[in-house]
Amino acid sequence: MPRRVYIFDTTLRDGAQSPGVCLNVQEKLEIARQLARLNVDVIEAGFPASSPGEFEAVRTVAEKISGPTIAGLARVALSDIDTCWRAVKAARRPRIHTFIATSDVHLKYKLRMTREQVLEAVDRAVRHAKNYCEDVEFSPEDASRSDLAFLIQVLTVAVEAGATVLNIPDTVGYATPEEFAAFIREIRRGVPHLDRVILSVHCHNDLGLAVANSLAAVQEGVQQVECTVNGIGERAGNTALEEVVMALYTRRDIYGAETAIRTEEIYRTSRLVASLSGMPVQYNKAVVGRNAFQHASGIHQDGVLKERTTYEIMNAATIGLVTEHIVLGKYSGRHAFRHRLEQLGFHLDDEELEQAFFRFKNLADRKSEITDRDLEAIVRHELKTIPEKFQLESMHISSGTNVVPTATVGLKVNGTLLQEAACGEGPVDATFKAIDKITGLPVALRNYTLNAVSGGKDAMGEVTVHVEYEGRGFLGRGLSTDIIEASAKAYINALNKLAFEYGDAVLAGKCTREIQQGGSD
Ligand code: KIV
Ligand code: ZN
Repeated sequence: MPRRVYIFDTTLRDGAQSPGVCLNVQEKLEIARQLARLNVDVIEAGFPASSPGEFEAVRTVAEKISGPTIAGLARVALSDIDTCWRAVKAARRPRIHTFIATSDVHLKYKLRMTREQVLEAVDRAVRHAKNYCEDVEFSPEDASRSDLAFLIQVLTVAVEAGATVLNIPDTVGYATPEEFAAFIREIRRGVPHLDRVILSVHCHNDLGLAVANSLAAVQEGVQQVECTVNGIGERAGNTALEEVVMALYTRRDIYGAETAIRTEEIYRTSRLVASLSGMPVQYNKAVVGRNAFQHASGIHQDGVLKERTTYEIMNAATIGLVTEHIVLGKYSGRHAFRHRLEQLGFHLDDEELEQAFFRFKNLADRKSEITDRDLEAIVRHELKTIPEKFQLESMHISSGTNVVPTATVGLKVNGTLLQEAACGEGPVDATFKAIDKITGLPVALRNYTLNAVSGGKDAMGEVTVHVEYEGRGFLGRGLSTDIIEASAKAYINALNKLAFEYGDAVLAGKCTREIQQGGSD
């Protein structure tokens, strides 16, 4: 009988800490729903004490998502634990995850605490969390660079105080697999009553060893692995969920362990996280990369056609990568369209389906073959997660060699059409400046990326922009076969998210007059 390994997903907490990622409450909820479908054991929904928005996101996930345990992160400060509990308590299975660093370098320079003070803080924090919640996880941050004897003392205190999960982080991705395995062995040998708790690991990928280290720990008997979808996370990221799960699945002969993950949901989850986080998956990424199941050389193609297993150790269908049997185009009807979307895992209500079908037909007029990636993009852009204060109504661009690029943009704000024109360094810059004149929002553009959704000269362009306002980031996405239009839509999408969070008070420029006149949405 294979033993069970629990999958603790921290995409919404450690993953959301990736530079440039800014998920709002609705986006976190959408990812959490998909994580529940994927059947992870635990969703770490965020760090509630870090900001009111983060608190709200964790609270919403705890209230709305059933199935997995919902965890919130908290420092050992008692006020953090109180806030965390308020955020997770609505969950059917809540967990408080509290942490403090234990390495000498963190104690000396970051915490300015003695070892005795850390021991006391751990005891106090775990007991305090236990007053609220049966399920309490404790993590000694930077465990892999901590003095082993001290670490064992800390973990012993946490178990005695009632921790139900002990998590061993390789916070800075410094460990190597053999070393980490030996480290786990020593912990298992040194900490009394480990049979009362679940032992867990949390590895970072600074040396590209996060998955290898997690698997080495599983071989030492660890029961929980912390990971993120696509391996996103602080710096070089965390253990990639899809890699660790598929390694355990494909090499059951070695690990003798299984997870409860519905592997057919892996690909869909990866695409969703890539799209909402704005962090694209590298083409050659294991399991979910675009090339992961493609064979370019003639010898390989010949082998796979004769017998798939000559060059494939996993079946693409196992991760939910479904191949297209019908090619959709301008003559396809609603039935085929709905059928394909359902195969891709999208379940739209009638109105959403109608709107997506309308966009599909528009695209099919301009593009001969509609791929799954096109469909996915159409649907994602159809699912509106926030109200659209600004709607793109019209745009006229003039650009070329030896001319000053100019843009005239018309936006509907509160139902009224407002127009502005601007010059810029290029057509995209001119478009953004015209939009800025209308909204009057002093945002800084931090990042801009443009990708072709699928191949071919008629491919749709997907633009992602990252804008910053008062130190907060907002991500916007736009889609069109015209890349300037896609850019405008992405920029407006980011501004709509900003306006949704801050309200009308931040608006200036041309639209203030409109708002004062109290136009209706
Ligand atoms: O990397 C780390 O140490 C963490 C802890 C908070 C678990 O993310
Ligand atoms: Zn981490």
